[in-house]
Amino acid sequence: MSNAAPRVLLTCPLAADVRTWLGSAHVVSVADRAELEAELPEADGLICMLSDRVDAGLIARATRLRVIANHAVGFDNVAVAEATRRGVVVCNTPDVLTAATADLTMALLLAAARRIPEGEALVRTGAWTGWSPTQLLGADLTGRTLGLVGFGRIAQAVARRARGFDLRVIYHARSRAPAAVEAELGATWESLADLLSESDFVSLHCPLTADTRGLIGAGELARMKSTAILINTARGACVDEEALAAALVADKLAGAALDVFAHEPGVPECLARAPRTVLLPHLGSATLGTRTRMAELCARGVAAVLAGERPANVVNPEVFARTETPAELSV
Ligand code: DGY
Repeated sequence: MSNAAPRVLLTCPLAADVRTWLGSAHVVSVADRAELEAELPEADGLICMLSDRVDAGLIARATRLRVIANHAVGFDNVAVAEATRRGVVVCNTPDVLTAATADLTMALLLAAARRIPEGEALVRTGAWTGWSPTQLLGADLTGRTLGLVGFGRIAQAVARRARGFDLRVIYHARSRAPAAVEAELGATWESLADLLSESDFVSLHCPLTADTRGLIGAGELARMKSTAILINTARGACVDEEALAAALVADKLAGAALDVFAHEPGVPECLARAPRTVLLPHLGSATLGTRTRMAELCARGVAAVLAGERPANVVNPEVFARTETPAELSV
């Protein structure tokens, strides 16, 4: 391949065939954090993970950079405003992970409602002494209310699944979904305060923004029923983790099932010790097919921008209205 081929950095290896495809027209290399800091100024494209902080300083130093493909639907880890200012296209991976993340939400809901981790521990530790009519009694789903906070693709896919469990679905989002969507999913809009006080299960599906950081704090938890369960597959920082742990310890909440944490991979001690929790290592999109499709989307997005085309799933479409190239902007 010619030396003039565009350089693309990956912060994690991708599926071998995706990397081979990308490598046919680009110089592709995998970079750890130190290498990313050192090599991004020479790179034309970046494929990064939700665990990579691509901040304004890093983008400002990357004067050749034309595209950042974030291997996630959420993009709170990328300084999008700085990328936009510098004419760098940011794309993400919606749609392909909707079903997997909605499935995991239901898995968390069921695991917490039916106390699956406690039951499994009982069996594995040999502490199970026999069947009892009062052992590990969980929560019914049929006829209970599921409150969805956020009502984008993943939340709607959860609503679709919830109907199969005879759950009543309510949701809160800044704007109401079209009447046809509400009717199809049997979902009703409610204020956040009403949703919290009515729901037996509250599941978070909002992006992490300045408005949603700490959205569920002590006051919101106090509104929830003491029999309710909180599920979070969105972003950890949407919840005040200390307040959540305190509510669980004080028996003011029946359970929490969390796939995400504010400072991953750190899990706060208070949550690790709190009772009635199901804690997962951010597995929302973790199926083989989904992760392969996410990698393909990222690779295609980078290749499109570097070939002068507009990729799918652009987070900052304003960038196409700009005329300046990154090099023309002052650092
Ligand atoms: C994402 O991709 O943003 C989600 O966290 C999926 O788990």
